[in-house]
Amino acid sequence: MKIKIAPSILASDFSKVGEEVGRLEKSGADLIHCDVMDGNFVPPITFGAQMVKALRPHTKLPLDCHLMVLHPETHIEDFAKAGVDIITVHAEACNIAELFKQIEGYGIKKSAVVNPETDVEKLFPAAETADMLLLMSVHPGWGGQKFIPETLQKIEKLRNYCVKIGRPDLDIEVDGGVTETNVKDVIAAGANVIVAGSTVFQAPDMAAMIKRLRG
Ligand code: DX5
Ligand code: ZN
Repeated sequence: MKIKIAPSILASDFSKVGEEVGRLEKSGADLIHCDVMDGNFVPPITFGAQMVKALRPHTKLPLDCHLMVLHPETHIEDFAKAGVDIITVHAEACNIAELFKQIEGYGIKKSAVVNPETDVEKLFPAAETADMLLLMSVHPGWGGQKFIPETLQKIEKLRNYCVKIGRPDLDIEVDGGVTETNVKDVIAAGANVIVAGSTVFQAPDMAAMIKRLRG
């Protein structure tokens, strides 16, 4: 499977995110991961649709929007109008089936995610129609945390389930604490879309790091 690297702009310099997005594209990123936090679903507040809209002209890469918000259904239209390519909603914050219908209505790709303490089985019904599924490998809200090793079993279970239902190539994304050391285990377990914030932005050579993360 093609391994895709999705750097998170959460770890970028917020005073020049547009430039940072351009730098990620030049460095070989496949997607731009946008961590939207509302101060409710998770304690911090990052940015919303207006910011994502401002980033849109800075890259041709797909904008992969991870909505860590309560009532995501009230924000889908704004993100759709902002020009995002894929929206991920939390199983803990909404009815995934309803949100998928809404997202699809805007012609945008749809994805669902569970937190570390939520069973991976919660994503199984969504696997039939999702364009991607995401597993949190840290508690959502902050970059730079340590990878939770139990995520590896969840990735395996999810990949096996996708194979079982005839969707062996469904994109499985993993988010949080991924480094050039543990990425091999993440990929071996069955994930193929790798979010990396600190690892990419703290690297002295961003392009070389993205290449190394690809394995
Ligand atoms: C956490 C975010 C992640 C995080 C990844 O709430 O969803 O995308 O920023 O950052 P690192 O790679 O630093 O763990
Ligand atoms: Zn994220």
